[in-house]
Amino acid sequence: MPIPSDLVSDLRPLGRTGISVSPLTLGTSGMGSGVEPGSQAERDAVELATAMLHGPAAVVDTSNVYGGGNSERILGLALRESGIAPGRQIVTKVDADPETGVFDRDRVLRSYDESLARLGVDRVSLLHLHDPYRIDFAEAMGPQGAVAGLLELRASGAVDAIGIAAGKVSVVGRYVESDCFDVLLTHNRFTLVERRATVLLEAARQREMGVFNAAPFGGSLLARGSASGGTYAYRPAPPELVERVRQLERICASHGIDLATAALQFSLRSPLVDSTVVGISRPERIADLEQRRAVQVPDEFWDAIDDLGVPPSVVED
Ligand SMILES: NC(=O)c1ccc[n+]([C@@H]2O[C@H](COP(=O)([O-])OP(=O)(O)OC[C@H]3O[C@@H](n4cnc5c(N)ncnc54)[C@H](OP(=O)(O)O)[C@@H]3O)[C@@H](O)[C@H]2O)c1
Repeated sequence: MPIPSDLVSDLRPLGRTGISVSPLTLGTSGMGSGVEPGSQAERDAVELATAMLHGPAAVVDTSNVYGGGNSERILGLALRESGIAPGRQIVTKVDADPETGVFDRDRVLRSYDESLARLGVDRVSLLHLHDPYRIDFAEAMGPQGAVAGLLELRASGAVDAIGIAAGKVSVVGRYVESDCFDVLLTHNRFTLVERRATVLLEAARQREMGVFNAAPFGGSLLARGSASGGTYAYRPAPPELVERVRQLERICASHGIDLATAALQFSLRSPLVDSTVVGISRPERIADLEQRRAVQVPDEFWDAIDDLGVPPSVVED
């Protein structure tokens, strides 16, 4: 059953965009991969999408490329069947052409058109530039570059705000400093075990950009724990990271707090973050996340975490 629509929780501004976000944003990068039209897997995914669009989060995050386009297609099916509750919105991202890798102005406009067609909507408020890793910065900023496409969409009113959504701090920092973007989405780099993105978050804040912090569980390890063989940032976790998670689990156990709750609240409590983006693959996760959000974590717990010191970075950058 979808959660009643009056429960968009704890709205706050997304920087200077005029968009409101809730503490949690729901992510769909795992939605629809390999799902065939008309299959039971598609029905299950539509059910998940429906729960997201009627849940307590103001934003559902997708991209042109998630599930090879199926994430947007499934969100579009859910929208057509059950609509979207008041105060919620879908945010998407433009991606490079999946066949040629081209990521210029024209591709940005095509990518946005594809997204709108799959979602079955005529606009989104916020559109991110997604993972611009295969183009260099000068090319992206050139007159026919990807950023020109996004600036054009914003200037024409086709979107209200544009964001940069990617991981590598060395890449993302230049986009933030360009002052072209209204929003930053970083991932896997500001968590209980990783702080590499702190400089980005601070730079974004100085510019009054909105900030999404995605993947507070590192994609797996901090949701499942050190014994899970879980990955961090989509790669096998190195031994020193697993050892760090064991230390955290001991502190968690001594305060009666679950690791996943601590990982979620680490991001939620940061004044550098407007909204934390969590990926889920089943509807029950939504209520579970809200429960974890409500857990009272004592200051002594965070003091004990701080006493461990800033963890050595393990992500690729
Ligand atoms: N470049 C970008 O723009 C970018 C990059 C990365 C991520 N993102 C966005 O951020 C979202 C989150 O990233 P992510 O999904 O990679 O990482 P994540 O949120 O750190 O981790 C997702 C994993 O956590 C598990 N989980 C979620 N809620 C849970 C709960 N209440 N209890 C226990 N486990 C729970 C999920 O399990 P189940 O699957 O079993 O539900 C899922 O496997 C993505 O979906 C995407 O929307 C964007």
